[in-house]
Amino acid sequence: MSDLSADKISVAFAGLRALSEVDLKVTSGQIVGLIGPNGAGKTTLVNVMTGFQPATSGSVSLDGQDLSGLKPHELRRRGVARTFQGGRLFRDLAVIDNLEVTGVGLGLSRAAAIAEAEAMLDWVGIAPLANRVAGALPYTDERRVAIGRALMGKPAFVLLDEPAAGMSATEAQDLSALIRRIAGEMGCGVLLIEHNVGLVLDLCHHVVVLDSGVVIETGDPATIRASERVRHAYMGTAADTNLPVLEVME
Ligand SMILES: Nc1ncnc2c1ncn2[C@@H]1O[C@H](COP(=O)(O)OP(=O)(O)OP(=O)(O)O)[C@@H](O)[C@H]1O
Ligand SMILES: [Mg+2]
Repeated sequence: MSDLSADKISVAFAGLRALSEVDLKVTSGQIVGLIGPNGAGKTTLVNVMTGFQPATSGSVSLDGQDLSGLKPHELRRRGVARTFQGGRLFRDLAVIDNLEVTGVGLGLSRAAAIAEAEAMLDWVGIAPLANRVAGALPYTDERRVAIGRALMGKPAFVLLDEPAAGMSATEAQDLSALIRRIAGEMGCGVLLIEHNVGLVLDLCHHVVVLDSGVVIETGDPATIRASERVRHAYMGTAADTNLPVLEVME
């Protein structure tokens, strides 16, 4: 068992307090949801937990060991992987090469990286896409490639920043099944950021709700559904977030 923990993380951007003393913990095999309105600070927290953004104060630790100051690739080698809100694949490279590059970056030989990339594409369910150019893929396939790439080297943790954005209900269901397998079969700890709150409440063991950089609620899905604070935070944005949470809570 492993745990990745953010403790009292604050981030200030030129006067804007993007995060204020945020605590969040993910353990092996667990799916933790991170939700909140646009601009709540979700991506900033993922950036801090993966070494892309230094915290103004607070610390991130892996199994009790402080990770502060480590670069993204150092955290990746220690088993903390992520996907990006905008995809960020190597668009000109074939799908398989996107995964292979990551494998080589993690220290594998080229042959070993190719072998793992092939096995990973198969595991994620996109083996037939191996030789397609990544930049020409439909959005939903691109997401799966990004997840496959993040899973190279079997990280202990993977942080997924809005993997279901733009997906149809059926596509989101397929993605849910994949995320369950990442936690259940790989034993990976998953942090899932999603605007699709229904998907989060369906999948996650534990949910953290951010609003304006502050944790306004934490708990199991039932607690989140019943929370007046969560309902209130989403009031102004329900129209553009497609929020089943409001219906569920009626
Ligand atoms: N590099 C930066 N410099 C200045 N301000 C930033 C920077 N990154 C984020 N912010 C601000 O910090 C706040 C939190 O942004 P963040 O992207 O973390 O929110 P989010 O919850 O991921 O939103 P979304 O749901 O739209 O992706 C926002 O007000 C944003 O404008
Ligand atoms: Mg974001």
